[in-house]
Amino acid sequence: MAGATALTGVGGRRRLAGQVAVITGGASGIGACTARHFCQRGAYVVVADVQDELGRSVCAELGPAASYIHCEVTDEGDVRGAVDHAVNKFGKLDIMFNNAGITGSFKQNIVDNEKADMEYVLAVNLVGPFLGTKHAARVMVPARRGSIVSMSSTASLSAGISPHAYACSKHGVVGLTRNAAAELGRYGIRVNCVSAAALATPLALRFTGLTGEELEASIEARGNLKGIHLKAEDIAKAVLFLASDDARFVSGHNLVVDGGLTAVNPNFDIFNGVLGK
Ligand SMILES: NC(=O)c1ccc[n+]([C@@H]2O[C@H](COP(=O)([O-])OP(=O)(O)OC[C@H]3O[C@@H](n4cnc5c(N)ncnc54)[C@H](O)[C@@H]3O)[C@@H](O)[C@H]2O)c1
Repeated sequence: MAGATALTGVGGRRRLAGQVAVITGGASGIGACTARHFCQRGAYVVVADVQDELGRSVCAELGPAASYIHCEVTDEGDVRGAVDHAVNKFGKLDIMFNNAGITGSFKQNIVDNEKADMEYVLAVNLVGPFLGTKHAARVMVPARRGSIVSMSSTASLSAGISPHAYACSKHGVVGLTRNAAAELGRYGIRVNCVSAAALATPLALRFTGLTGEELEASIEARGNLKGIHLKAEDIAKAVLFLASDDARFVSGHNLVVDGGLTAVNPNFDIFNGVLGK
């Protein structure tokens, strides 16, 4: 029995044993990496995305514990369908990871920003997590348990590091997380989000036009923590923590995974002899 607890208990290697998760944007980047981590720890995973071929190939790699469903997160019917697919195929829903997101295009001046672009980024990055939270709650409330995690970004904490629409959407995810935690706590449901610094995924490479090495070097040069590069695995492990019973008393939290980037003001560095010069 002690061995079983070591596997499935707090910090155990199979600590998601028998848990069922939906991961939006699970075909690529952080979502695909999280799907792998969840399955390795015994979870059943529904990968919900619009990249059907890629999503199916992730599920084929993961075997019968994973199932793909086409899901456009701005479409309520699709999000409802992804949650119902998890319940119909695997019997329940324990974890909802609202991860799908886009950067939108960048225009230097706000006067050049199109209303339609703002609305579309908010639809994917904020209305998407709202719909995911709503439909997860629909099945989690009667079960009186569940963990909902959404992807935010350091753009929810620092200004001037992303387009206006992206910054607004990621601030919004923190607000949605806290408000949903306030409502759903009475049912034993925890709601949290993760704010990541930039890392080399298709989204970030497309947006910056950099290679993975260039992006990592650029972040390290501007960042606080040296000698380590943020990887999708680091975010997957943060999501795994929040999703699992390891975080059983954590709710309404924005877990920042940025190596101290947003905690430090680089204009001051008393540890390097710079104090108001
Ligand atoms: N990569 C970074 O630097 C970074 C930093 C902070 C936060 N994030 C956030 O992490 C999340 C995952 O991004 P990623 O970096 O893994 O990017 P990614 O492009 O590799 O993956 C995003 C996935 O979301 C899917 N997606 C996009 N729009 C969708 C829609 N309307 N409906 C359903 N699926 C859709 C894409 O098909 C893709 O598979 C996003 O919310 C992003 O904002 C990324």
